Amino acid sequence: MKILKWILPALCLLIVSCKDNKTLLSPDRSILTSIEINHKGQLMYQVMKGDEVLIQSSSLGFELKEHGLITDGLTLLNKERREVNETWTAVWGPTKKNINHYNEAKLELQHESSQLKFNVIFRVFNDGVAFCYEYPNQDGFDELVIMDELSKFALVGNPKCWWTEADYDSYEKLYHETPLSEAKWVNTPVTMRTNSGLHITLHEAALTNYSGMTLKLKDHKKKNTYVSSLVPWADNTKVKIKTGTKSPWRTITIATNAARLVESNMIVNLNEPCKLDDTSWIKPMKYMGIWWGMHIGTETWVEGDRHGATTENAMRYIDYASENGIDALVIEGWNAGWDKWGAKDAFDHVTPASDYDLKKVATYAQVKGVELIIHHETGGDAIGYEALIDSAYALCQSLGIKALKTGYAGGIYPQGEHHHGQYMVQHYQKVVETAAKYRIMINAHEPIKPTGKRRTWPNMMTREGVRGMEWNAWSDGNPPSHTVTIPFTRMMGGPVDYTPGTFDVLLENFADERIAWNTDDISQTRVHTTLAKQLALFVILYSPMQMASDVLDNYIDHPAFNFIKDANIDYDETKVLNGSVGEYITTARRSGDDWLIGSATNEEARTIEIKLDFLTEETQYEATIYADGKDANWLNKPSDFTISKLNVMHGDKLKLNLTAGGGQAISIKRISQ
Ligand code: NOJ
Ligand code: CA
Repeated sequence: MKILKWILPALCLLIVSCKDNKTLLSPDRSILTSIEINHKGQLMYQVMKGDEVLIQSSSLGFELKEHGLITDGLTLLNKERREVNETWTAVWGPTKKNINHYNEAKLELQHESSQLKFNVIFRVFNDGVAFCYEYPNQDGFDELVIMDELSKFALVGNPKCWWTEADYDSYEKLYHETPLSEAKWVNTPVTMRTNSGLHITLHEAALTNYSGMTLKLKDHKKKNTYVSSLVPWADNTKVKIKTGTKSPWRTITIATNAARLVESNMIVNLNEPCKLDDTSWIKPMKYMGIWWGMHIGTETWVEGDRHGATTENAMRYIDYASENGIDALVIEGWNAGWDKWGAKDAFDHVTPASDYDLKKVATYAQVKGVELIIHHETGGDAIGYEALIDSAYALCQSLGIKALKTGYAGGIYPQGEHHHGQYMVQHYQKVVETAAKYRIMINAHEPIKPTGKRRTWPNMMTREGVRGMEWNAWSDGNPPSHTVTIPFTRMMGGPVDYTPGTFDVLLENFADERIAWNTDDISQTRVHTTLAKQLALFVILYSPMQMASDVLDNYIDHPAFNFIKDANIDYDETKVLNGSVGEYITTARRSGDDWLIGSATNEEARTIEIKLDFLTEETQYEATIYADGKDANWLNKPSDFTISKLNVMHGDKLKLNLTAGGGQAISIKRISQ
């Protein structure tokens, strides 16, 4: 049997490599994709990593409104191959230097009955495979209406799978961990682990003018096969495009373990180079905000007794930020319209609330060296927002405001369109491009998922698209496993504005002032981690705009705040030291000579040993360690923590004791040559 295990794949490989023009290898030859047109004229592909088949022979194609199925009757007109090996530097992290090395095959095809010409491009990297459809300009086909995309991914066996159910409007969900056969209809990214331990994430890259892709499981001849299923327009078509464009990339990230999966940069590599000539105005920033108070119900967005965004409160936050190394502040509820949230044309992004002096606050922030992140909640009213966008952004520019948090909390206007459909993908793109014109950085909530577009538009800093911290304030919240699942799932697409850093994890400090606004039982609401894990998540849940989410009063004179205060989040390099999906992760990030490490666990206590072999040799460093208290865990004394200091060097080992639902954050600073 053992011999068979080796001989069969070898034979397989021999057969495919004999038909050499059908195979495409990764530069390190570890991943092999075979591509062919079968006797029915169907375009088929297969993916292997070493001797393991990951995607069995699967067909590609789509359905057009005018011409029906474009899945068989295909002829290969031409095929081109090339190898690309380039290095590019990102404006911000998590890793600035990116190697983009792949082998590409472009197949030029023609569909027999419609005579449509289209290309399928495959790229094979050392960390995965991607393909896209290209629709070249041609006579008789100016516009295409796609009714369905029929890209198949015939997976092998029944791997363990981490997934959220497909939803056209929200990614704010907890992950399920089930066999693949139970993951019937999913959002991407979706992550799997095969019996041999290989990790695979299916997702998409460079989603610019298309609708978002979900995946539906079909049992095709006893194989677990995902088929792409696109988010519809209100008229039930899926995509409307002009020829001369291409689809997003369909991506299969492949890694030998969970830590390497997270380190993959394939998605961002598949995006076009930066379109901005001058990026000097784009900068990572740590921020706080008048925000958490509204979620826990001690303040309101709407004007009134408890209004959070008053001039006075804003100036208090500015003072604190300025004195405590916080770069920026988001102030929600500053403008008119919150009393009409949900209605068409509710929000006005140029008129401040009557107790908020926008000009005074903006000037005060400038004097104190603090950036304002202006907040534009649209309630989902994309039409209303587009009508105001230029005047609102011009106002920001005139006030020296360089960053913006958008929000789409509500049903989309035009009615019938979806957050993840092509209409909104185009809208989100318009926002990023318009913002770039006004030199504004974007943090989008209720967004389209990340697909690596930060390479092309580096002012697209971060986004939500996750069940974030806010859910702890007004629902059963996010269990300890959630925050050690999303680095391997949601974050495979890119940075996340999860907003960690809440210190009052039991929400006790202002309990008397709380008013439930979205739950009947506020006693259930709390943060489901220890305090030390909140610091760890500040490092693990990467965002170039990283929030310390608690209210200011919970930070004043708190010794743990020093970690956030000292953290340089403009990372040059990232290493994932270990990890297991839904269980634990340890991430190390370098800024200049210094490192931050975050390690976190799920409901299980565990001891994790790490080796500091990434530090520069023959150099002294000082580590400041923020750890769970001896008797702390997420259920018992979650706020207990310890701070200790240690001199460390390259190659030293550290044992991290993580309590149940706990974590550890370490700041390592160079102290000598
Ligand atoms: C939902 C966003 O995720 C949250 O951050 C924001 O505070 C509210 N909408 C109000 O805009
Ligand atoms: Ca949200």
